[in-house]
Amino acid sequence: MRDVTLENIFKHRIAQKFLNRSGMAHAIAVSYHAFNLARDQGQDVDIAAKAGFLHDMGHYTWYRNGKWDYELYRKNDIHAIKGAERAHKLLIRLGENPVKAKTIALAILFHTDSFLPTNDIVRTPLQQIVKWADEKDEEEGGMHHYRTIEYDRALKSIIRLDEMIDAFLEKENPGQNP
Ligand SMILES: [Fe+2]
Repeated sequence: MRDVTLENIFKHRIAQKFLNRSGMAHAIAVSYHAFNLARDQGQDVDIAAKAGFLHDMGHYTWYRNGKWDYELYRKNDIHAIKGAERAHKLLIRLGENPVKAKTIALAILFHTDSFLPTNDIVRTPLQQIVKWADEKDEEEGGMHHYRTIEYDRALKSIIRLDEMIDAFLEKENPGQNP
């Protein structure tokens, strides 16, 4: 039994606020990609899906004169740091297992090189999965942040992914996931 589901996270107002800012459709797509990659590579599917879902929750809006300023963003962005912290706080509030919450936060912290002084860090397989999952859904010019999805459709996709995670965990460890 998982302490926290994707549905619990999705319905929280903090997740709604920040994931709608960076793109709910993107968050859900990355969550699915991360689940699939983790399943295929023998990594923790629940941690991967949660990190994928929350990976961009640290985004800030970089606007100058009402327009997105990519240069300003490139120079000053720390969304991975902010996202790791926000996601950790939210997960702990929802009652997530602290070891899992830390693993998810670290996967969010390292999902991009954009804020790092050098790009020579060595990622764990799970951290690499979240980075790949994000890259799979990226569109040119950051357009993936603007794809929209209606609340009800988003909720349905999240519930479906929860069911896929539960079914997979049950298959792996029968009887231990009531
Ligand atoms: Fe992303």
